[in-house]
Amino acid sequence: MSVHCLLALLQAHVPGTAEHRITNIFRPLATPAEAEKNIALLVLAITGAIFVVVAGLIVYTCWRFRLRPGDDAQQEPPQVYGSNQIEAAWTVIPILIVFVLVGVTARVIASVQNASPPASMLKIRVIGHQWWWEIHYPDYGIVTANEVNMPATPDGRIASYFELQSVDVLHNFWVPQLAGKVDLIPNRTNYMWMDPREPGVYVGNCAEYCGTQHANMLLRVIAQKPEDFRQWASDQQKPAVPGALANPGRKTFESLSCVSCHAVKGTAAAGKFGPDLTHLMSRQTLASAMLPNTVENLRAWIDDPQKSKPGCLMPNMKLSEPQLNAVTSYLEALR
Ligand code: CUA
Repeated sequence: MSVHCLLALLQAHVPGTAEHRITNIFRPLATPAEAEKNIALLVLAITGAIFVVVAGLIVYTCWRFRLRPGDDAQQEPPQVYGSNQIEAAWTVIPILIVFVLVGVTARVIASVQNASPPASMLKIRVIGHQWWWEIHYPDYGIVTANEVNMPATPDGRIASYFELQSVDVLHNFWVPQLAGKVDLIPNRTNYMWMDPREPGVYVGNCAEYCGTQHANMLLRVIAQKPEDFRQWASDQQKPAVPGALANPGRKTFESLSCVSCHAVKGTAAAGKFGPDLTHLMSRQTLASAMLPNTVENLRAWIDDPQKSKPGCLMPNMKLSEPQLNAVTSYLEALR
């Protein structure tokens, strides 16, 4: 199999459009991912060399000492015992190799974990839920879901620092082109950082089995030029747009139990269990980056989330046709 086939297999299929829609650790675009790629290549090179030597010796031995015509198949080969040199070599060399791998790995882990935040860092809190990501920007008062916007930084001078938490089970935050995996653990906060070098959409996923819809717990990092990020942040800080607040569907939405799980800033809806919907339509995807955020998908989702994502915690609300239309039209206005 060619290297290209192999690389193609590593590229995940992702709905929607995106510039960097791959999940390939061998094409890093941030400092932590770059450091981890280099160490992965070193480990692959060392273990590859060990494989070649061991497999080569086995092949050579099988061929050199094969049964030849005229050999007595019943006779045992001569038994050879004890060679201090060989015993010493195959004890000492593996120990040295293990020390080298441990030392290099420890150095890379320390360099990634101990990096001190630059003054202009952005703080982001990510909270894992079955099966979506809650995302807070504590310094901006923004709450969103499943898509992490952050400034790109061609010169590595801005970085985004993450606090990772979970409200239910173990999850794992992984955006392969930007940084390694870090667990989200209930009753504990883990930390990580990343500094995407190019603007674009980086896809990621939950990398720790967390239940039925683990495979559809996807996420996106949207790296933007700093001025675009500022614009995005100031839009997100605002309450729901006036067009949505005036939408006739709002009344229907607020009369249903939608509001016990979902919040819309500037309205009575203040639920905390599900994703914040204040600027729902500014996001590219629905259902934790599983579906492109189109009106048809949104309508189908509200109609029966269990059809799109069986097992998810949003129930089928059994809305009547007029209710479904009203709620869809309200949500669609939340830009
Ligand atoms: Cu969350 Cu797997």
